[in-house]
Amino acid sequence: MKDALPENLAFDTLAIHAGLAPDPLSGAVMTPIVLASTFAQDGPGNHKGYEYSRSGNPTRAALEANLAALEGGRHGFAFASGSAATTTMMHTLRPGEHVLSGDDVYGGTFRCLDKVMGPMGIASSFVDMSEPAAVRAAIQPNTRLIWLETPTNPMLKIFDIAAIAAIGKEHGIPVVVDNTFATPVLQRPLALGATAVMHSTTKYINGHSDAVGGAIVTSDAALAERLAFLQNAIGAIPSPFDCYMVLRGIKTLGVRVRQQCASAAKIAERLVAHGKIAKVHYPGLASHPGHAVAARQMKAPGAMITVVLHGGLPAASTFLRTMRLFACAESLGGVESLAEHPAIMTHASVPPEARKKLGIDDGLVRLSVGLEDAEDLWADIEHALAAIG
Ligand SMILES: Cc1ncc(COP(=O)(O)O)c(C=O)c1O
Repeated sequence: MKDALPENLAFDTLAIHAGLAPDPLSGAVMTPIVLASTFAQDGPGNHKGYEYSRSGNPTRAALEANLAALEGGRHGFAFASGSAATTTMMHTLRPGEHVLSGDDVYGGTFRCLDKVMGPMGIASSFVDMSEPAAVRAAIQPNTRLIWLETPTNPMLKIFDIAAIAAIGKEHGIPVVVDNTFATPVLQRPLALGATAVMHSTTKYINGHSDAVGGAIVTSDAALAERLAFLQNAIGAIPSPFDCYMVLRGIKTLGVRVRQQCASAAKIAERLVAHGKIAKVHYPGLASHPGHAVAARQMKAPGAMITVVLHGGLPAASTFLRTMRLFACAESLGGVESLAEHPAIMTHASVPPEARKKLGIDDGLVRLSVGLEDAEDLWADIEHALAAIG
């Protein structure tokens, strides 16, 4: 048996080693996929830490320990999808309580709050958190959870995590950050004071568009105890195979995200100068309203770019149909570049008036910059823009 890992390891080292000691049975350096649904006990209640795979599984435990290390938290929980993680977190609330959410969240998160939790007696309201004072003003006497994404999806607004976490603390309200867009490579919400971090691991964390998953990480012992109970009781857990896939993807998370960010920065600058583009939303641009906060709380501004095309839906539609390297598809964060139309695709469940208020109009296209050569990607974008009449 080797000694524990040294302390203060860098992110890229943790991604490859945290929670992942070689298998004690065989010495296998890659985490075994333990498919067993149940585990033999020496006698009733006398087991090796695992009883039944919904409650706990060695492959999942490795992923959970790894994710906790990457986010700098004590407890990690893996779920069947990001949406399963969100729904499980919302079940920490009781009827009569209220969730204060950022206004520009993933469409499925809005749908969960509006159409699933709402009818169960858990109310929610959605506010632009660009000014932290707006969060304080929107807290209600029954607010028991503050939920935010930053950068937001799809408008890439930046919310100040440290300031919002401080407001949460002042009022005794947990603050949960959906860190899917930024990843722990760029932003670590727990270090900024958030109570918990949530992920759709489907995106950058897995990074290869071949597994759906979700996660929550926290250092709050009471919340962790409740989440462990709910993870088992609700049962929205990932398969051991998917846990393995996500762990495999994590090993290259740092290099992938850094390269994707470098390509995105180059592409964003060129998009600004292109005549067919009405607006570029990218936190790396000095003109972005959240640029200063992004520079403070993120190591790089991310690899997502949202653009508004002149010419509305016909222009957006031509652009998306003409691209040859960017696939027109929902999701983001994979090695392959993707482009999508939020109003018709990812954010269709947000009511039209709310979409309009957020600026999700018909000319809006969201780009997820992948790992292809940046010049090839730019050529693909130029070619698709040229096809717009
Ligand atoms: C920011 C964000 N959060 C949560 C989710 C939901 O994750 P999943 O699709 O894994 O359920 C998504 C999915 O697109 C997302 O983009």
